[in-house]
Amino acid sequence: MTQLPGLLDTEAIRKDFPILDRQIHDGKKVVYLDNAATSQKPRQVLDALNAYYERHNANVHRGVHVLAEEATALYEGARDKVAAFINAPSRDEVIFTKNASESLNLVANMLGWADEPYRVDRETEIVITEMEHHSNIVPWQLLSQRTGAKLKWFGITDDGRLDLSNIEEVITEQTKIVSFTLVSNIMGTVNPVETIIRRAQEVGALVCIDASQAAPHMVLDVQALQADFVAFTGHKMCGPTGIGVLWGRQELLEDLPPFLGGGEMIETVSMHSSTYAPAPHKFEAGTPPIAQAVGLGAAVDYLTSIGMDNIAVHEHAITEYAVKRLLEVPDLRIIGPSTAEDRGATISFTLGDIHPHDVGQVLDEQGIAVRVGHHCARPVCLRYGIPATTRASFYLYSTPAEVDALVEGLEHVRNFFG
Ligand code: ALA
Repeated sequence: MTQLPGLLDTEAIRKDFPILDRQIHDGKKVVYLDNAATSQKPRQVLDALNAYYERHNANVHRGVHVLAEEATALYEGARDKVAAFINAPSRDEVIFTKNASESLNLVANMLGWADEPYRVDRETEIVITEMEHHSNIVPWQLLSQRTGAKLKWFGITDDGRLDLSNIEEVITEQTKIVSFTLVSNIMGTVNPVETIIRRAQEVGALVCIDASQAAPHMVLDVQALQADFVAFTGHKMCGPTGIGVLWGRQELLEDLPPFLGGGEMIETVSMHSSTYAPAPHKFEAGTPPIAQAVGLGAAVDYLTSIGMDNIAVHEHAITEYAVKRLLEVPDLRIIGPSTAEDRGATISFTLGDIHPHDVGQVLDEQGIAVRVGHHCARPVCLRYGIPATTRASFYLYSTPAEVDALVEGLEHVRNFFG
């Protein structure tokens, strides 16, 4: 068995994930390499969800009965756990949403309805990158269309990095907001946050970071990052679906207007007008995703018990090995950085002129789960003149043997298509 320095005890960790024992296609053990789409869930998270529904289920912030108080304590306890996980200065800066897309749309809409000094209008500019997931492109296109603000972006270099050579022309005195991904969901590139934030701060622009592909894999410290907003989702970090997070700086959350109106986000309501509850409740209209937040809290406990630093070291070792092995496959072209430096555990590639959907299909027949397509990052495919990629993405339970299985699977694909 291949041994690499820094690997976690995957034999023990995999016992926490019942689904990894599943057999598919006539007894083949599933090789799950689609972690950038969603991670698997450990028993600790499944148990927390069950316990919540079996013992504590009630609506939060409303009831005086025991179950309501327990549910509220669990929901707000999850907020404390997430705040500690990202080193937020205050728990009130953690807003629960349904996913990262909603978190990013929330920022765009806060700004879309804001007065000065945050107002976005035809005199102002919004900056994103060509490397974004659609959820960090479309909300800004909508905001730009609604307000007349100019949408600008950084391009991508041939080796899958952001092209910041024209940073002073892209981020200017007119820029109101710069929104970009910390780690590319399609290429795995880790972006140079400090350089971008420094320039944004020079011109007084706000910074929003999409950390969906970072929060599951590395230490995420919002104070060290020095952004204004950070968005991520629970289901990619061992939590359930239906729960996302938006962290925002306290004074911004106080100043900016809510987006969704409804129950629990108000202070008073009359037939003429309303006043709003303080953040985070101002941004959490209606019954929130209670069980999902509890599940995310359990996921945070689980990841913390293993250690985000240890997870990052494990994934780096797996990625380095995977890059090396994949480059041995004839006709395979990595789309994105072809070294393990400054990249996450997500690798996209093409295989000769075999369509990625065919690659994915033949891999699936061997029990190997990858994602194929444009990965909700179509501008990246357009940039490289390809319709789609095959994407393998790893996590804390991934093993060198699974990398070997992928490489053997790809040999099989090549033989199959001659
Ligand atoms: N955003 C997820 C992905 O990249 C779904 O696959």
